[in-house]
Amino acid sequence: MALESKLLLLFALLVFSFDHTAASKMKSKVTRMQFYMHDIVGGPNPTAVRVAGRSNFTGSNPMAAMFGSVFVMDNPLTATPNPNSTVLGRAQGIYAMSSQESEFSLLMTLTYGFISGRYNGSSFSVLGRNPVMSAVREMPIVGGTGIFRLARGYCLAKTYSMDQMDAIIGYNVTLLHY
Ligand SMILES: *[C@@H]1O[C@H](CO)[C@@H](O)[C@H](O)[C@H]1NC(C)=O
Ligand SMILES: *[C@@H]1O[C@H](CO)[C@@H](O)[C@H](O)[C@H]1NC(C)=O
Ligand SMILES: *[C@@H]1O[C@H](CO)[C@@H](O)[C@H](O)[C@H]1NC(C)=O
Ligand SMILES: *[C@@H]1O[C@H](CO)[C@@H](O)[C@H](O)[C@H]1NC(C)=O
Repeated sequence: MALESKLLLLFALLVFSFDHTAASKMKSKVTRMQFYMHDIVGGPNPTAVRVAGRSNFTGSNPMAAMFGSVFVMDNPLTATPNPNSTVLGRAQGIYAMSSQESEFSLLMTLTYGFISGRYNGSSFSVLGRNPVMSAVREMPIVGGTGIFRLARGYCLAKTYSMDQMDAIIGYNVTLLHY
């Protein structure tokens, strides 16, 4: 083997072993948390409002009629189902009615930001499909900020109670981060 080739190989090995050590030094942590989200659509102080969609809902299929509606939400997150309990943070973002066949489902694009407790100042973001009529909905976590920097994970959402269109949703969240 020519000297240059040998040097090149040695260099490649060094780069590889350096990368390997650097990567293994970044230990990932697992955070699990539980909270409740309050989604208020009716009444004088809604936390979720419809901002766009087709203006003329016609036809007999309500699913097809709602298809295309877009909502902006700013929902409080609490530690217990009681809406008067301490607000841990807020889920802010946009969701859209994205299914016109089969099940009723939403595309969620939300950031869950914390304003108190041990995660104060940190956030994680969810992007995924939410088939709201299913008992448990799994949604992917695609990133985060603060202590959840470089996070990935998933959340399991389950409707705790429903009053007209207003809902309290229980969340179990698992985050992998550094
Ligand atoms: C409203 O309904 C009419 C008649 O069904 C249809 O031609 C029109 O495209 C609809 N408009 C919208 C914005 O959906
Ligand atoms: C929350 O507080 C409001 C206003 O003080 C009260 O009317 C309501 O009953 C409380 N709800 C619960 C579940 O404690
Ligand atoms: C959350 O963090 C902010 C910014 O660091 C701070 O001002 C605030 O007092 C904290 N809130 C709680 C409830 O710890
Ligand atoms: C979250 O976990 C608790 C047990 O720790 C369980 O009772 C609850 O049903 C779970 N909720 C969801 C949405 O998976």
